Amino acid sequence: MSKKTLVAGATGYIGKQIAAELVAHDYHVEGVARTPEAQAVLAAAGHKGVACDAADIERFVAVAMDYDVLVWAAAVPFDHEYNLLRAVVDAFQGSARTLLFLSGSGVVATDSPQGEWNVAAFSEDDPFPYPAMFTRQMRRPTEHLVEDAADRGLRTLIVRPPMVWGHGASIQIPAVFESARRTGAACYFGKGLNLYSHSHVDDVARVVRLALEKGTAGATYHTEAGEVNYRTIAEAVGEVMGCPARSLSYDEACEVWGEILVKMAFAVNSRTIARRTRSELGWSPAHTDLIQDIRHGSYRDAFAHTPESSGMWSGHQ
Ligand SMILES: NC(=O)c1ccc[n+]([C@@H]2O[C@H](COP(=O)([O-])OP(=O)(O)OC[C@H]3O[C@@H](n4cnc5c(N)ncnc54)[C@H](OP(=O)(O)O)[C@@H]3O)[C@@H](O)[C@H]2O)c1
Repeated sequence: MSKKTLVAGATGYIGKQIAAELVAHDYHVEGVARTPEAQAVLAAAGHKGVACDAADIERFVAVAMDYDVLVWAAAVPFDHEYNLLRAVVDAFQGSARTLLFLSGSGVVATDSPQGEWNVAAFSEDDPFPYPAMFTRQMRRPTEHLVEDAADRGLRTLIVRPPMVWGHGASIQIPAVFESARRTGAACYFGKGLNLYSHSHVDDVARVVRLALEKGTAGATYHTEAGEVNYRTIAEAVGEVMGCPARSLSYDEACEVWGEILVKMAFAVNSRTIARRTRSELGWSPAHTDLIQDIRHGSYRDAFAHTPESSGMWSGHQ
């Protein structure tokens, strides 16, 4: 019988695809629903929703104890995420349960103060000999917590996606479309030569399933499927929106996107290599052409003819 799996974040962009991928492979999946609207979303997707808000750590842990596997793909403030997963690890220890933590490649981001490229790119187990950027400071302690818990009688796994794209939604690509709508130009920061590795959301979901099935306890798995610099992304968005691409100064970028998103996503390089994922899980991405999806695929469908953006831009990563 398949293990009983709880997906926190099953109503969200990535969690929804994870839940669908697991169900398609005969997992028994239920999702966390913190509101009646979330219950309705899960019901429409064919999942049972469990009424629970991750803001209440005690209640969340009590709910999670009813499952063999917890996939944490919700987006909550990073300090709360740490406290919640610490409580989950304490409760799960010695029970042979599995905890999979969906982190993000922001933990290996390096500074790009002019929007310039740099050479730093990281496989899962590479050292990180650079100053810690915002996301690393906030999220690496949680990764450590989850890694170390693999010695405490539970199975832990970390999946660390880069910029996720597909189905006309996510964070950075919708944010560039939004910049075109707001300013009349598809924007990038500085020189726009900096890189964030990318991965289609369906491929991320497949890595999560494969990690649950074959992953090594305590290991981290990257999901990179290529890289395109931000200027090229903005030029493709400009083509779709019928407007030019334009560089923004740091202050202008903060006006358009907010300082947190600029610090986390637009003024950094975050380059990953999915070496362990490919060799150990036998994964390779089915989707690699982000620019094609902007010009002629899901992003054109979502944004080309709408005055307001319809794809999600949730502003956190
Ligand atoms: N998108 C990317 O490009 C990307 C890249 C790398 C890593 N990540 C990471 O992946 C994770 C998911 O990102 P996403 O883009 O899928 O986010 P998202 O679309 O905003 O989804 C967030 C999910 O978290 C749930 N949630 C938020 N607060 C909650 C709470 N208090 N209790 C229970 N559930 C709660 C939301 O439920 P509701 O429906 O109730 O709001 C939703 O299901 C995040 O940790 C993010 O850092 C994302």
